[in-house]
Amino acid sequence: MNNIKSYINQHKDRFISELVEILKIPSISADSAFSQDVISTSDAVKIHLEKAGCDHVEICETPGYPIIYGEKIIDPKLPTVLVYGHYDVQPPDPMNLWNSPPFEPIIKKTELHPEGAIFARGASDDKGQMFMHIKALEYMTSNKNLPCNVKFMIEGEEEVGSESLSWFVKQHQEKLANDVILISDTGMISNTQPSITTGLRGLSYVEVEVTGPNRDLHSGLYGGAVANPINILAKMIASLHDEDNHITIPGFYDKVENLSDEERVEMAKAPFSLDAYKTALDIDSVYGEKGYTTNERNSIRPTLDVNGIWGGYTGEGAKTVIASKAYAKISMRLVPHQDWQEITELFKSHFESIGPKGVTVKVTPHHGGQGYVTPTDNIAYKAAAKAYQDTFGKNPIPQRSGGSIPIVALFEQELNSKTILMGFGLDSDAIHSPNEHFGILNYLKGIETIPLFYKYFTEMKS
Ligand code: BES
Ligand code: MN
Ligand code: MN
Repeated sequence: MNNIKSYINQHKDRFISELVEILKIPSISADSAFSQDVISTSDAVKIHLEKAGCDHVEICETPGYPIIYGEKIIDPKLPTVLVYGHYDVQPPDPMNLWNSPPFEPIIKKTELHPEGAIFARGASDDKGQMFMHIKALEYMTSNKNLPCNVKFMIEGEEEVGSESLSWFVKQHQEKLANDVILISDTGMISNTQPSITTGLRGLSYVEVEVTGPNRDLHSGLYGGAVANPINILAKMIASLHDEDNHITIPGFYDKVENLSDEERVEMAKAPFSLDAYKTALDIDSVYGEKGYTTNERNSIRPTLDVNGIWGGYTGEGAKTVIASKAYAKISMRLVPHQDWQEITELFKSHFESIGPKGVTVKVTPHHGGQGYVTPTDNIAYKAAAKAYQDTFGKNPIPQRSGGSIPIVALFEQELNSKTILMGFGLDSDAIHSPNEHFGILNYLKGIETIPLFYKYFTEMKS
């Protein structure tokens, strides 16, 4: 291989500046005010895929945002890697907590990133990680060492549930046929201890609405005499966990996969410092389900969290009022064997049943998806592990993640192929939070590691 390290060294300034340009476009899929920006980001992805050496790139229109499909087929007899990523990003709010504007990328050094990190919304999730794949392709095509076929499928609705992508995948099984799906949209343990993500949690996301009296009321004249929807909603939400922080929805745990003691012992071997975890978050204690460690709570156990809650008066000063309605957005992270639609139904009937007289309760499901566990005894895992071993000098640890990429389970169902999750982000990247960033070292290591995956996967496959 014409040395990838020297190619990266030669081109790294451009690799960074090209990513910076993409990060400047506010491709916020959740907010329709930014729809033009989401679309121009898809155009930019198309141009980059063409420049990186794809033979054929198309913008596939959907009922939502376009999907960019690109391919380079060098020999139909060779294996095919399908790369998936997303060019949309989460909304940047709360804006006032950003140290620099979210769509004006800057490079700053941090304790964990002495060689610098790019600060911008989407730097790590997922523009930066998606772009590593385009740059890895550029390296392989310009040095004539792409060992197999490659297809790219980059979507713009991941952060809002990938609805159009489900539709697209179901229609194009033939076009998307592959031997393995490769995704960089997760993280690893640290820059000195790589890991490969072997699990994603499922998700059920719902919105709830509690309605009391038909209009907002004076809290002196009516308070204490009618149900206050905000008080009631708070009570109902509080009742969803018991004293031990188990979820109280009947049937919720029925299908949960229980790990064996051996598996839990194996998990506990991964390097983790509870003190460092607490210090990084400025908390004096962790909190969660009794009987499980922090790493178990955020990966192999299901959870329920309120993501937002509102109602009544939240403006400046004090207004004495009893609101007519109160709302909350609630997500449940699910583990293998829990079906997200079934859990959504269980939540709905339970939540509606615990509303007291005097209020009406409405539950509206948003989106969801199944969890996924990747095998570690297959060629894809072995090829990825060997690639990390080469570039990080350490064998990667398999680790289940707490996050969700619901489309991965659908890939398996519709395309009948396994996914390998080669993430290069860190938990400290602050994805979905203010000051999201992606280490320059992580970005360049990703570009260096990906071509090795292609090489080993193709070798092992033939
Ligand atoms: N890339 C993340 C998921 C992720 C991050 C998995 C880190 C593992 C480690 C993805 O963009 C994401 O944010 N997914 C959403 C779900 C989606 C349906 C909105 C999530 O996990 O909240
Ligand atoms: Mn992502
Ligand atoms: Mn995300």
